[in-house]
Amino acid sequence: MESMGIRIYGDKVLRRNAEEVDEFDEELSVLLARMVETMIVEEGVGLAAPQVGISKRVAVVNPEPGNPETLIKLINPRIVSVGEDMEKVEEGCLSVPDIRGMVERPIDIEVVFLDEKGLERKLEAKGLVSRIIQHEVDHLDGILFIDRLSFGRKTMIKGKLKQLASRDNAEN
Ligand code: CO
Repeated sequence: MESMGIRIYGDKVLRRNAEEVDEFDEELSVLLARMVETMIVEEGVGLAAPQVGISKRVAVVNPEPGNPETLIKLINPRIVSVGEDMEKVEEGCLSVPDIRGMVERPIDIEVVFLDEKGLERKLEAKGLVSRIIQHEVDHLDGILFIDRLSFGRKTMIKGKLKQLASRDNAEN
């Protein structure tokens, strides 16, 4: 399965509110397979469809890249509850290369989503998996982790972001 190109900060598809999936067909299976392949090639732990230019509510998550047993495919995911405890952990993103920063998020979440066949599933996640899921669901709402950084950190990365957005491959 062929991998896909990663859209970089500045590309408007990353800022769109992605559309719900309502057809569980071959096209969706192929998209998921290509996203899994892309995540492996790019050495990421998660990937949302807008990052490969597809504005649909689809994401793949794998805290152990390449391990099929820890792979989670999320379609139309909704975080239905979050725990009270928060944690600040450093994040990065394939669409925002060379920039990292501390993001505060709830440790525990409950997510409801559809699987590849359109069946509803519910997952309780904590720690890293929870964090990746929250990061990917953000992508589906057009939110990037840099939006959640402290004011000071945002100021510090302003120049780098401007450079990223002016790259030739950004479709503005
Ligand atoms: Co990301």
